[in-house]
Amino acid sequence: MHTKAATVDPVLSSPSLRIDNWWLAPLSIGSGFAIFIVYSTWAAFQNAHFLYEGGGAYYLSPFYSPDLIAAFGDFFPAWLPSWIPHSPAFLILWAPAGFRTTCYYYRKAYYRAYVSNPVACSVRAHDRKYIGEAKFPLILQNLHRYFFYLAVIFIFILSYDAVIAYMFADGFGIGLGSLVLTANVIFLSNYTFGCHSFRHLIGGNLNCFTCDAGSKTRYKMWKGVSVLNRNHQFWAWMSLFMVGFSDLYVRLCSMGVWTDIRFF
Ligand code: FES
Repeated sequence: MHTKAATVDPVLSSPSLRIDNWWLAPLSIGSGFAIFIVYSTWAAFQNAHFLYEGGGAYYLSPFYSPDLIAAFGDFFPAWLPSWIPHSPAFLILWAPAGFRTTCYYYRKAYYRAYVSNPVACSVRAHDRKYIGEAKFPLILQNLHRYFFYLAVIFIFILSYDAVIAYMFADGFGIGLGSLVLTANVIFLSNYTFGCHSFRHLIGGNLNCFTCDAGSKTRYKMWKGVSVLNRNHQFWAWMSLFMVGFSDLYVRLCSMGVWTDIRFF
């Protein structure tokens, strides 16, 4: 008896008809995230070398800001088991981590990179059932607007750190670390104030742009936020890189591996 061999349709069996390297974006995004997560977790566990005071400088790593140990001393109770990290970084980093994890841009990026659902435009998704962000756990993504308020508080804290980085023991000065911490707060501000939630906060529920002085002001602010929002992906990556580099800079200076340059 002859049976007809099953034929495989090359079109239907292919994940996509795209002929470009569509897999490069999710691969590089997934790798970038992974590097940052590994480094920041390692740095948070260190609980050391987060402050550089050489040459009269005062550079504080953004991973350990605000400096809770300086403010409250070693407040970890003695009965806390040693396997629970006694590092203040863990009491700080949950807020910016929550802000980034729930960010609209990052959601798209890590859904593609880690869950492949969908992996890219015009590429077949895995057969997972996606029901939006209406049920646990994805409904937690809606906390983003509240994380935004926390992120704004951190902008003020890191701005203070950047100002302090110009106040050396012998007076005003400019070191390479001062510039690094300043760039960090600028990049983080451009990312934070380009947030979709902030854009909605400024311009949402506004039906008339010219009706009164208040709506005109909000319209102008909305246009400003929209400029940053248009480049949200760019600032998301720049700020991620810069906050990691700021910690690395302070850490290596504190360890004596790098020497801070004093320009003025
Ligand atoms: Fe990205 Fe809010 S949408 S920070």
